[in-house]
Amino acid sequence: MSWEVKKILVPTDGSPKAELAVEPALEIARLKGAEIVALSVLAAPFESSCFTGTGAAEGAQVIEELKVELAQKSAERVVARAEEAGIKARAVVLSGSPAEEILKVAEREDVDLIVMGTKGMTGTRRLLGSVAMSVISHAPCPVLTVREKEYSLPLYERARRM
Ligand SMILES: Nc1ncnc2c1ncn2[C@@H]1O[C@H](COP(=O)(O)OP(=O)(O)OP(=O)(O)O)[C@@H](O)[C@H]1O
Ligand SMILES: [Mg+2]
Repeated sequence: MSWEVKKILVPTDGSPKAELAVEPALEIARLKGAEIVALSVLAAPFESSCFTGTGAAEGAQVIEELKVELAQKSAERVVARAEEAGIKARAVVLSGSPAEEILKVAEREDVDLIVMGTKGMTGTRRLLGSVAMSVISHAPCPVLTVREKEYSLPLYERARRM
């Protein structure tokens, strides 16, 4: 029995750690004849209380606009790389909780595989970021996580390089 992979979801927050997952996703897409759905989720709006005094509203507005632009560009960058490789791809940008939106899209679009980084923008010191942890725990399909090479070194080797 063969494993059918027609649709691969690649969630990205635009960080280099998230983008590590793009090449493996494209390679699997190429091998399996799958299409790529690149998803970028805009997290909740900045707390307006972060800005006070004159220009506070404008400040918050500028941050929101930059976030939208970052999300769009992140997803579009993945699409561009897929298309360069001759793979069908489309960008999806949503707002909400990143893990929830990734899981909803996986369900709604009947995705066969999710390929994502183990870490993202924060670059947490934990083994897995919170979004990765939640997606792995609840995904309706297999999840391939991609981590930086240095973290797959044996423990003693990593300790030596610290
Ligand atoms: N806003 C987002 N939109 C789409 N995908 C995301 C988003 N945030 C994270 N991801 C996906 O989840 C992977 C892991 O990132 P995660 O956010 O879990 O780690 P982190 O940013 O290092 O830690 P944390 O967010 O828990 O502080 C990323 O490589 C990316 O694939
Ligand atoms: Mg994160």
